[in-house]
Amino acid sequence: MVGASFIVHPEPASRVQKYDFSQIRLSRADFQKISRVLYQFSGICLQPGKEELVRSRLLKRLRALDLHNFRDYLKHVFDDKTAQELRTMIDCLTTNKTSFFRENKHFNYMRTRILPEVRNSGKGMRLWSAGCSSGEEPYSIAMLLKEELPTVDPTRLKILATDISDTMLAKARAAEYDRQSLAEIPPNCFVKYFTPVSSGSNQLYRVDESIKRMIRFARLNLMADWPMKGPFDLIFCRNVMIYFDNYTQQKLVRRFWDILAPGGHLFVGHSESLVASSAGFRYVEPATYVKI
Ligand SMILES: C[S@@+](CC[C@H](N)C(=O)[O-])C[C@H]1O[C@@H](n2cnc3c(N)ncnc32)[C@H](O)[C@@H]1O
Repeated sequence: MVGASFIVHPEPASRVQKYDFSQIRLSRADFQKISRVLYQFSGICLQPGKEELVRSRLLKRLRALDLHNFRDYLKHVFDDKTAQELRTMIDCLTTNKTSFFRENKHFNYMRTRILPEVRNSGKGMRLWSAGCSSGEEPYSIAMLLKEELPTVDPTRLKILATDISDTMLAKARAAEYDRQSLAEIPPNCFVKYFTPVSSGSNQLYRVDESIKRMIRFARLNLMADWPMKGPFDLIFCRNVMIYFDNYTQQKLVRRFWDILAPGGHLFVGHSESLVASSAGFRYVEPATYVKI
């Protein structure tokens, strides 16, 4: 027989052994490198014991890039001259828990102590949600302003909402939330400011344009330069500084002081306090400070 030909059939996809990413370990040295770079660029301090959290959050990047160990992943991060992978890595390592009208005391404080004066003066207001995550905080603020200041020209009520996470900002801009996450919204606001939108089997609700228009979302690393001009009347920086060390917190609080109007308020998370860094602020009640 002359010229017998062989056809090589590829292995069916189902029989090709997939790489088992779950076996990848994070060495202490690689954890320390990641901690250092995260601290240097975002101020976030990873406590010892967070190795497993870091490993599991970054495994999806190794999968996406088909890299089989953290050493190669870190090389990829450092070799990337655009710094895009560094940005993605930091994004993956942020903690973004938030909810509508979270720590409601601040909203009550605004309603009873700040907004009556704004209503009477007819002046506008500039607010900053620093570390806004997926948008629930600035949307809660906007709904409150709209309800409490019906006679103030809405174009004079401006909310800047910033975060370091591109993923969270995309969610915030999309402004669509599931029913469960809307539980804390007062029923009258839910009816007025949310429209059902269908998204496959998942029922979502979209924030009304009148609320969205009051907010400008932007990516901002709190450790970097701030391109915006002050002054702000109120800054929400809640549940963000818990991830920073004392030194970073103090520097940040000083910068908040600089960009606040005299008499402006700073709200921090209820588990946070300014104790060591409160220079220039008067304590009003837990997690609530006024610039003096
Ligand atoms: C736990 S969430 C808090 C969200 C909201 N303020 C609240 O209290 O519900 C913390 C947010 O801070 C952001 N963050 C952490 N470090 C940051 C930095 N250096 N610059 C800007 N945002 C940062 C995270 O991406 C995250 O979305």
